[in-house]
Amino acid sequence: MDLTIVKGKTCFDVIHGNIPGCIDIVREAYLAHGAGNSVNPPSYFLRFPERPNARIIALPAFLGERFRVSGIKWIASYPDNLQLGIPRASAVLVLNDYETGYPIAVLESSIISAARTAASAVLAAETLRKDKKVRRFGMVGNGLIARYIHRFFRGAGWDLDEVVLFDTNPAESTAFAGMLREQGEGKVQRAASFEELLASCDVVVFATVAATPYASDVKLLAHNPLLLNVSLRDLDPELLIASENVVDDIEHVLKANTSPHLTEMKLGHRDFIRGTLADVLRKTVTVSAGKPIIFSPFGLGVLDLAVGKWILDAAVSSGEASPMSDFFFEVTR
Ligand SMILES: NC(=O)c1ccc[n+]([C@@H]2O[C@H](COP(=O)([O-])OP(=O)(O)OC[C@H]3O[C@@H](n4cnc5c(N)ncnc54)[C@H](O)[C@@H]3O)[C@@H](O)[C@H]2O)c1
Repeated sequence: MDLTIVKGKTCFDVIHGNIPGCIDIVREAYLAHGAGNSVNPPSYFLRFPERPNARIIALPAFLGERFRVSGIKWIASYPDNLQLGIPRASAVLVLNDYETGYPIAVLESSIISAARTAASAVLAAETLRKDKKVRRFGMVGNGLIARYIHRFFRGAGWDLDEVVLFDTNPAESTAFAGMLREQGEGKVQRAASFEELLASCDVVVFATVAATPYASDVKLLAHNPLLLNVSLRDLDPELLIASENVVDDIEHVLKANTSPHLTEMKLGHRDFIRGTLADVLRKTVTVSAGKPIIFSPFGLGVLDLAVGKWILDAAVSSGEASPMSDFFFEVTR
């Protein structure tokens, strides 16, 4: 019995060759999950007493409907890696066969993870805003995830008049600004503070590694922006209380000291959450205009499975996958 290996370059090529296709897969996965055709247990966090900022997370899941695949993403986050000149996150995704449970593939998954995160941010923006035009598009935290999110907005045909950047490490925003200009982004600005950025942008992506909230002034949201709360821990509960809140999965996001979790602890209830992105996609929930909107995605294993299976199928058809024959031994009984 074979095990197929899919390398990072193949994942990169499939995703970047069809960004709208990747967003469609993520939409389908959210809808299947929202309809109950999935199993997505809580993520398991492995932490280390001597490395408090590092963690490795296991995300097991099953996704039904036409996907019919189960598996697990095993993703490490080591923020100190940046000092070594390598990315913070590294990951593999194992896919298991629907009928036998046998592992069928191992895929490099830091790219899949970044891509499904970016796809969910774009999908949320497409669902929660009326058009694909943004006057000022702000990004707080200018690392790898921010780069993917920007690429996905552009790849999905969004019109961004100006891109505004802020990072606590100015070298990061300078490097990102240089990349954006090389990619043909006309107007790129660096904001002096996150407050300046937040107060002036229509759509703001948070993709930092902040562990506790630092943004608390509700006045910064007076112009009713859409906040894509990807890093989950930047926003004080006061901002969520003043906003319409949409999440990917209510049970998941109310964990691990995310801003929605802190808000639930502060209020003693979860009524501040309007619904899930799948609810809004299915139009069973509407989000009122005239308030800021915050999308907080915890990051679901089902998205990794859906994108991983899509890549595996493409890689097998193009001959880019590497089957390792007879990986499993003693397969008769
Ligand atoms: N919700 C999801 O599904 C999901 C999925 C993947 C990653 N993430 C999260 O996205 C975040 C970014 O990931 P990454 O791979 O880009 O990390 P990264 O380390 O490459 O980049 C993070 C950047 O944020 C900057 N930063 C840290 N604190 C800041 C602050 N207070 N204000 C402004 N900038 C700040 C850092 O200097 C760095 O440049 C992480 O928190 C990660 O956990 C979320």
